[in-house]
Amino acid sequence: MTDSTAETLASLREQPLPFCELHVHVEGTLQPAAIFDLAERNQLTLPYRDVNDLARRYEFTDLQSFLDLYYDNLSVLIEERDYYDLALRYLTRAHAAGVRHVELFVDPQAHNMRGVPTGSVLGGVSKAITQATELYGLTAEIIVCVLRDQPVAAAHRMLESVLASGIPLTGIGLDSAEIGNPPALFKKVFEEAHSHGLRRVAHAGEEGPAEYIWQALDDLGAERIDHGIRCLEDDALVTRLAVDRIPLTVCPLSNVRLGVVNELGELPLRQMLERNLVVTINSDDPAYFGGYLDENLEACIAAFGLNYTDLKSLAMNSIQASFASDARRAELMSELST
Ligand code: ADE
Ligand code: ZN
Repeated sequence: MTDSTAETLASLREQPLPFCELHVHVEGTLQPAAIFDLAERNQLTLPYRDVNDLARRYEFTDLQSFLDLYYDNLSVLIEERDYYDLALRYLTRAHAAGVRHVELFVDPQAHNMRGVPTGSVLGGVSKAITQATELYGLTAEIIVCVLRDQPVAAAHRMLESVLASGIPLTGIGLDSAEIGNPPALFKKVFEEAHSHGLRRVAHAGEEGPAEYIWQALDDLGAERIDHGIRCLEDDALVTRLAVDRIPLTVCPLSNVRLGVVNELGELPLRQMLERNLVVTINSDDPAYFGGYLDENLEACIAAFGLNYTDLKSLAMNSIQASFASDARRAELMSELST
């Protein structure tokens, strides 16, 4: 570790910054040991010898190779309490990482297609949020994601079921296999979600082209882009994102583990910041990609030589980019100026 990395880490320990985590999939926080615990509780037999055998499979060549394992592992989540335990364990870890506000992605379709009702999924997650707020003072909200590699009609059914559940939601997102599944396909679902007051975000420009980011903005009305790192291939798009202050929720360790970049140093984080893009740092699927928010920040401090001032602007971006209430954002912002 260089002296400057050690110095930045020490400053961050002495004066923690109020980060918001805006891109984390609750299903992506399912650790190998928890998969075995849940399988035992639900009397399921896993196709793995033990935790180590499962953990050894956490090597990915691209997004699809990860999604194959991610969806397989969901088989252990059945009852509302499974979702509660999963979400509360993540929120506890996020609190330990210094996270003050979370916007948690949930994939209802991935559970509905296995016969688990939306009420169990969102009920468990929302009760965990209430508990975490009580225990840690952390705030958290739910964003349901459309699986873009499933039919458009399934996305409409998902939206109907989450609205019918009556469980408070903040937004709608778009995730799963990106290439070949352009955002524009889901224009109507997003319009419908917007008419019910949901905020709109979309994964775009992770593996897919800059054109998908344009579609997310123009067809879906996305207020934030998840990943979005391929925007740098299109100057007019960079200008649009910078002028309209559209945040990009970048996930450094995810990009390395999914082969979007060969190594962290190749991630164009500095270029994005230099071009005035509103970048935030996030963990995506921390159980699979080797790091929660604190570990993503530490990796970036080491790879890009970020100093405390850089971290302060990343924390500020995360607060400004969040969908937290005005009062909560003001509260977190005030901690930055002390
Ligand atoms: N679902 C969970 N993680 C994802 C990612 N990184 N990209 C697209 N869909 C996802
Ligand atoms: Zn993601």
